Amino acid sequence: MTRGLFISFEGGEGAGKSTQIRRLAERLTAEAADVVLTREPGGSPGGEAIRELLVNGAADRWSPVTETLLMYAARRDHVERVIRPALDRGAVVLCDRFADSTRAYQGAGGDAPASLIAALEDHVLSGTVPNLTLILDLPAEVGLARASARGGAARFESKGLDFHERLRTAYLAIAAREPERCAVIDADADVESVADAIWRVVEKRLDL
Ligand code: TMP
Repeated sequence: MTRGLFISFEGGEGAGKSTQIRRLAERLTAEAADVVLTREPGGSPGGEAIRELLVNGAADRWSPVTETLLMYAARRDHVERVIRPALDRGAVVLCDRFADSTRAYQGAGGDAPASLIAALEDHVLSGTVPNLTLILDLPAEVGLARASARGGAARFESKGLDFHERLRTAYLAIAAREPERCAVIDADADVESVADAIWRVVEKRLDL
């Protein structure tokens, strides 16, 4: 039985997820005693070890199907060891990326079959899906410019504008298909305005 609340943050590169997830954690701490801030790929020692394989190296280091399998190996460990136990004790879990990233990056951006991804969601997540997914939306070129100004490991950032435009379209399609779970946030604005827009959705959706 799920007692906690599971909120995922999604979006392309440079959408400001990391900043915004920290802001939401601060605000939620005032409402809920137990807030867990985590990320994917990673979030558990095993997941973080797999992350190193995924985010470093040449853009073509892994095929989209191999990437999908590595993402799901990391995700299963993260769900088993961090997310599920936190939800079971009633925590609010804020996760920087989750299953929608695989649908977008490996499915729409790459060529991993939707049927493979759907089967992995069914069998590997065992019903551990977000109550709310916040999709931070902005034009691909704006996000890529922000991400390259920030620097850092950039295997996925190096995949080209066309790839990143496919991601944006995929995220908007996910939101249109699952409006009860997803909310699209305009991320092409200043940090305060985006944080306020996120808070309004969280208050309304989660009845705080
Ligand atoms: P981050 O930059 O948001 O920490 O995420 C690391 C990279 O991993 C990012 O470029 C997106 C990518 N990614 C996928 O391709 N598929 C996934 O399922 C996840 C969780 C992340």
